[in-house]
Amino acid sequence: MNYSDDFKFKNYFSSRNRSLTKDQKSILDFYQEKVSLESFSELDQLNDYKNISLEIGFGVGDILLHNALNFPNNLFVGIEYYKKGIAQLLLNMEKHNLKNIRLFYGDALDYLKLAKTNYLDEVLIMFPDPWPKRRHWKRRIINKDSVNEISRILKLNGRVLFFY
Ligand SMILES: C[S@@+](CC[C@H](N)C(=O)[O-])C[C@H]1O[C@@H](n2cnc3c(N)ncnc32)[C@H](O)[C@@H]1O
Repeated sequence: MNYSDDFKFKNYFSSRNRSLTKDQKSILDFYQEKVSLESFSELDQLNDYKNISLEIGFGVGDILLHNALNFPNNLFVGIEYYKKGIAQLLLNMEKHNLKNIRLFYGDALDYLKLAKTNYLDEVLIMFPDPWPKRRHWKRRIINKDSVNEISRILKLNGRVLFFY
């Protein structure tokens, strides 16, 4: 993925909305509230799942979709700030009538800070943006703050799957 040097971190989406298809735009409009930081606490009401997995930066969500289809008793939570990816996965969730996925749009660290302690069984981070230039290191999702939050949120025997 290519990002311009003057990329505005928190406003990333607004500049890229134009590339959304009509279906992607309308599903995002419909689920706008559900995928917001304000709705994150609704996860507390989902107590019937055997296992809770979080994927940070899921892209277009192929792994989330695959796992949710194959493990219907587990809950899959995804956080992404690539709007097209959120929209595409929402469309796929509707197509497969999947109830065991919850998606959230925005900077993962904002959500990690809100998550309950000792809550997750698993965290997946697949091929995070490397941000090789030193001046962009602050944009990396894996940093001291996120690692501290992840270790707080994970259950005692929880695991982190990380591919690079
Ligand atoms: C290189 S892509 C990998 C996508 C996917 N995991 C895969 O393997 O195809 C990295 C993804 O992480 C997302 N991402 C990076 N930093 C993030 C952050 N702080 N919060 C949410 N998503 C983030 C980007 O939007 C992008 O979709």
